[in-house]
Amino acid sequence: MFLSLTLISALGVLDIVNGAPVQNVAGRHHHHESVEKRAGTCSFPDHDGMVAVQKNGQNGGWAMHSDQTCSPGTWCPYACQPGQLMGQWDPSVTSYSYPGSQNGGLYCDSNGNLQKPNQDKDYCYDGVGTVSAQNNADQNVAICQTVLPGNEEMLIPTDVDARSNQPLAVPGPDYWASTAAHYYVNPPGVSVDDGCVWGSESNPWGNWSPYVVGANQDSNGNTFVKIGWNPIYLDSSFKNTKPSFGVKVTCDDESQCNNLPCSIDPSQNDINEVNSSQDSNGAGDGAFCVVTAMNGAKAKIEVFNV
Ligand SMILES: *[C@@H]1O[C@H](CO)[C@@H](O)[C@H](O)[C@H]1NC(C)=O
Repeated sequence: MFLSLTLISALGVLDIVNGAPVQNVAGRHHHHESVEKRAGTCSFPDHDGMVAVQKNGQNGGWAMHSDQTCSPGTWCPYACQPGQLMGQWDPSVTSYSYPGSQNGGLYCDSNGNLQKPNQDKDYCYDGVGTVSAQNNADQNVAICQTVLPGNEEMLIPTDVDARSNQPLAVPGPDYWASTAAHYYVNPPGVSVDDGCVWGSESNPWGNWSPYVVGANQDSNGNTFVKIGWNPIYLDSSFKNTKPSFGVKVTCDDESQCNNLPCSIDPSQNDINEVNSSQDSNGAGDGAFCVVTAMNGAKAKIEVFNV
């Protein structure tokens, strides 16, 4: 039905690959830049808009797993500020398939120099700007975007303060392989340091967050906004625990939005139940709903305590 959103249903498999085969980019036209080198890695360069994440790991700020390094011969994805998308990836990979789907970010070449492959895009660029996260809870909410192209770990942080709003980075059709953005919504009060990592089954954070969100815009200016139950949560020890917070999609101009209401309110809905006229189940039987905001209309993903 929503082809551009099919990837949202593919969430849940993380391939952490050290030294994965990478494309040979020699011979292509690249912009070279000199960077400070440290012990056989390309250091995080902090270019305009780039955000260092999980700085204590061997990833050194790159949007890679804590035991991955940005070493010569690898692609090194990175996070951008809220509302912005990574503008760099391996241009020879044009569809979502492994292992090319890992080739996001800058290329650390065999000499330890970072190469910027997409000359038509900045390091970070603004998403289409049609979706924001509205936090109506009384503590911060960590909304964590998966790194794609990259290892699909939810490392890209958007920290929404209590009672405030932040833009979400919504890709248009020009984003890598026309893919959508995917986010995990952590419970209020969980920091981005604790929530925007893979995590473990001991807390309903990160990969075990209760809810997932997806968004993208097609070439007609329609924005698809999806909220749903995280299949990983439903398959964990939390599966009988109602979250103490909910999520819902709202629109600034409801006449431009299809499929409202689309909400999950644990005070009214059961676990794995969505309040929608169109609810359906995705991968791993996570119930979800999708709102279409037409003609560039703006939608919000509201987070609230119950
Ligand atoms: C579903 O949403 C509608 C519209 O917001 C609301 O009136 C209704 O109470 C909700 N029902 C449940 C079961 O959440």
